Amino acid sequence: MLTETEKNVIFPWREAYSVGMPEIDEQHKGLIRLINNLQNAMMEGNGKSVVSGILDDLVRYTHSHFTFEEAVLRRGGYSQLAAHCEEHKRLTAQVIELRDKFKAGKVTISMEVMKFLKDWLAEHILSRDKAYAKELAGKVG
Ligand SMILES: [Fe+2]
Ligand SMILES: [Fe+2]
Repeated sequence: MLTETEKNVIFPWREAYSVGMPEIDEQHKGLIRLINNLQNAMMEGNGKSVVSGILDDLVRYTHSHFTFEEAVLRRGGYSQLAAHCEEHKRLTAQVIELRDKFKAGKVTISMEVMKFLKDWLAEHILSRDKAYAKELAGKVG
């Protein structure tokens, strides 16, 4: 059940994002929540330390989710494992770069950055994650 605030966020969870594995869906929801928190912090004009903290959480949670997901794919013998791990590496580098640039004062959190982060996650889930979900359906979970 979504709360009132979650209904109005820029990045609501959609059933289409489900990979059919509850633990992974929960982790994706956690990442989505962090991106929405970042949006709220931007809208409310929160200070740099609050925004920095959310970006740190996003980097950490991205890393732990990708590690978990890769272990599930390895266990399931996923045929595209190597390519998927490469994509995770690319996405991790992007979010670390954003965090570091923000901390260095080279970038501010704008609507453009928010859109980038939304696409960064949603496109990966809808294309790459849904692809393993299809192949591994019923095998792991
Ligand atoms: Fe993934
Ligand atoms: Fe994922």
